[in-house]
Amino acid sequence: MTPSIIAIDGPAASGKSTIGELLARKLEYLYFDSGVMYRVVTAVALARSIPISDEVAVTRLAENVRIDFLPAQVPDGRQFTIQADGRDVTWAIRERIVDVNVSPVSAYPGVRRAMSAQQRRIGLKGRVVMVGRDIGTVVLPEADLKIYLDATEEERARRRYLERVARGEEVEYEQVLREIRRRDEIDSSRSVAPLKKADDAVYLDSTGLSVAQVTERVMAIVASAARVERET
Ligand code: DC
Repeated sequence: MTPSIIAIDGPAASGKSTIGELLARKLEYLYFDSGVMYRVVTAVALARSIPISDEVAVTRLAENVRIDFLPAQVPDGRQFTIQADGRDVTWAIRERIVDVNVSPVSAYPGVRRAMSAQQRRIGLKGRVVMVGRDIGTVVLPEADLKIYLDATEEERARRRYLERVARGEEVEYEQVLREIRRRDEIDSSRSVAPLKKADDAVYLDSTGLSVAQVTERVMAIVASAARVERET
């Protein structure tokens, strides 16, 4: 049987969302990007002028904000529409100001508690590809298949840089690389649910591989997991 709960974790810009979405489409599963939830909390905090350093206020916000994932209603390249308390924040959560502030927000234990509980509820329904940092380790440790998708810092910075240039932003590669390093550092060293490979996750390094090549390898991993399950 094809694994029903698939967790893909890995560092920023390792290709999790691109690959996760393609995989979900091929399997006709739900695609769920858990990072979006931390981004929504960050974007709403910034919009309401709540200081990111105010852990109590940011945690209260995470506990109360309503996050909705809807099919893409606007044909502007979005994967889906994301609403915070009914307001469209699909693009706001991708802004650089959110990128820079999201790691400290996601390090707050109370924020993680609120988000992980919702993610777990969604994941346990099955037929899902969920991507993030701690899906295989904390949110869904019982996932049927766990993949840890990685790439070198330079490759990830290059991907993020090209994405931003394509969006018409003025950025420098060196700055993007510095920001990626800073996020890696915070995401991997926080005390609650740090980014790390689950012991039973399959490690996949996508450095130098095209999207098609990574997808092909992921599909092979999925097929082999299904075979192992059939044989046991
Ligand atoms: O995958 P992303 O870049 O959209 O994630 C944004 C931030 O959210 C990232 O810096 C770490 C955090 N995150 C997390 O802590 N746990 C997850 N499961 C997903 C994301």
